[in-house]
Amino acid sequence: MKATSNVHEPAAPAILLHRISQLVTMAGGEEARRGPAMREIGLIRNGAVLISGGQIVAAGAQSEILRHPWVRRHRRELIELDCRGKLVLPGFVDSHTHPAFTAPRLIDFEKRAAGASYAEIAAAGGGIRASLTGVRSSSEAKLADHILGALHQAQAQGTTTVEAKSGYGLDAASELKSLRAIRSAAQQWPGTVVATFLGAHVPPPEFREKPDAYVDLLCREMLPRISRGGLARYVDVFCEQGAFTLAQTLRILAEAAKHKLRTRVHVGQLSNTPLETILAARPVSLDHLDELRREDIRALAASDAIATLLPGANYFLATKKYPPARKLIDIGAAVALATDYNPGTAPTISMPMILSLATTQMKMTVEEALVAATINGACALELGARKGSVTAGKDADLAFFELDDYRELPYWFGANHCVATMMAGRFADLG
Ligand code: NIG
Ligand code: FE
Repeated sequence: MKATSNVHEPAAPAILLHRISQLVTMAGGEEARRGPAMREIGLIRNGAVLISGGQIVAAGAQSEILRHPWVRRHRRELIELDCRGKLVLPGFVDSHTHPAFTAPRLIDFEKRAAGASYAEIAAAGGGIRASLTGVRSSSEAKLADHILGALHQAQAQGTTTVEAKSGYGLDAASELKSLRAIRSAAQQWPGTVVATFLGAHVPPPEFREKPDAYVDLLCREMLPRISRGGLARYVDVFCEQGAFTLAQTLRILAEAAKHKLRTRVHVGQLSNTPLETILAARPVSLDHLDELRREDIRALAASDAIATLLPGANYFLATKKYPPARKLIDIGAAVALATDYNPGTAPTISMPMILSLATTQMKMTVEEALVAATINGACALELGARKGSVTAGKDADLAFFELDDYRELPYWFGANHCVATMMAGRFADLG
């Protein structure tokens, strides 16, 4: 599926946002940022943004934008909005979520509070498999409603682009249903949704004793149908003990490539898997990366793959160790941040919460965290040319916060200061 901007209405109006107290533009190219460039956020005090036809025409200092020839020619048709007291950012790009589920997993939650580990709960029949029943028995419309609810919650906290994975159906019919539900929710939401097929989440119970047969089914039946139906842009695999082995992962990545589907991998969440062969398959992003050897950090930095860190899962599972963000950034890896929104390990769709965890627990600077949550997230979805910065030619996807200083975003953790979002040049109702 193509990344879809779902507003198919007449051209959005021309808007001039002016007197923006702090405008974070992320100006500086459409490539993923690495090393010291991860601190460049293109901050402008007293800024302005000119928007027309759903795209950004110009962004910069107020004095400069007011002199823009376009403003002079069209001033009378422009809707002008005074943004004093507002912080304006590119809408967050949440490049890793699992919204295709129907219910929270409260029993798992209680068991963990009583001391059980994620792996122990999964081995006892909880975990990912506990979400299967709900998805398998749900109608496509009901599932789409759940997903749409999550998209609205994301938007209420400043997110305008969301990657959404299937992965709680784990048979052909339920995985296809999940991907169609993602498509249907995307059509009802004005932001951008990128769909990912995660049939390789865990082998379902009926294949517990013969996981290779499930991989056969996935490669021979599911992948061709998903590719033919244009239902996903990416294929993801959970490469982990109790999920899929490295050999199975590499097979699925190779099959995906045959169907012209791009790939991403959950790897290193609970145990280390050497990255060399996975990187050779050229995935767009490797996600989690809690358990990394020094040579994997180096290999990742030398590759094009984005390192997507998901500290919400560390927080919720109360792992002692967070992913080595500092080492990754300092050696030059391109780091993105995402929520990992899912019912088992990260029931949050709040990017500001993730910014807080990144700065307090992983010692990222606020600037690095913001880059990771916008332009680098866009690059993790190969959308760097359209998303992730407030610069001329990009989609007018913006988030507005009632804050004076961008550093307050991760500082006031657990509070939502987002007062509006704009997607493709239109303000969205925050509900
Ligand atoms: O990213 N690691 C695999 N998948 C999810 C967990 C899904 C679940 O427990 O429902 C994750 O953490
Ligand atoms: Fe995940």
